[in-house]
Amino acid sequence: MNTRKTLKLTDEFAAQYDSHIEKGLWKGPQVLYEELKDYLQPKNKLLDIGIGTGLASIPFYKFGLDIYGIDGSLEMIKLCKAKNFTKELIFTDITNPDFSLPAVSFDFAISNAVLHMIGDISAIIKRVTKQLKPGGHLCFTTIPYGYINDEEYLETVHQGVYYNHKKEIDLFVFRHTNSYIKYVLKENKLQLTKNQIFLAFKDYQEKRDVFFEYFHAVK
Ligand SMILES: C[S@@+](CC[C@H](N)C(=O)[O-])C[C@H]1O[C@@H](n2cnc3c(N)ncnc32)[C@H](O)[C@@H]1O
Repeated sequence: MNTRKTLKLTDEFAAQYDSHIEKGLWKGPQVLYEELKDYLQPKNKLLDIGIGTGLASIPFYKFGLDIYGIDGSLEMIKLCKAKNFTKELIFTDITNPDFSLPAVSFDFAISNAVLHMIGDISAIIKRVTKQLKPGGHLCFTTIPYGYINDEEYLETVHQGVYYNHKKEIDLFVFRHTNSYIKYVLKENKLQLTKNQIFLAFKDYQEKRDVFFEYFHAVK
């Protein structure tokens, strides 16, 4: 896997990101907010893993939460910072075992449209869970393996994690089985509250529907 390449491509795409997402009617941010809204209290602290330009955490900010973000793309961080709604933003690559986190305990950790760029997510979930308060919520998306159009995906060394190398742009993308994610949650003593596959957006270029799955777990 070539994380530096993924982050370089993200840097290059950052300026177009918001308008591109709006065109595709990207549902991820809304789905995560709907899933968590009944648990929110003003001033709760939320970590957004791979915050990008902030699209997934802005609804939580509007509710009154304190938002902390981490991301490995400097361009995304700059665009997010310019929106002026975060308490702290950290530039860090979450595939590094000792990636940086704000020195804060969180009520919520979310990650929207990030983990399908990563592959094995167990170290990330472990590190974030440590900084989640007891009773804190973790809610993230993946692309499900075993649901639709999996033909081009091959299994990695991690059982339940599949990859596709998009040669034209030298980009690795990943799909995760439901049982792999459930195993990672269990390993970290997280209780699964809900998981559901949803239509994330319509890819007009490739003329297809793109499905993600979200997982909501409690510490
Ligand atoms: C598709 S964007 C999603 C952004 C945001 N979460 C949203 O909902 O709009 C994926 C984000 O994950 C970040 N990302 C991907 N791989 C990463 C890594 N290894 N470390 C840190 N951030 C990463 C990218 O820089 C990008 O901002």
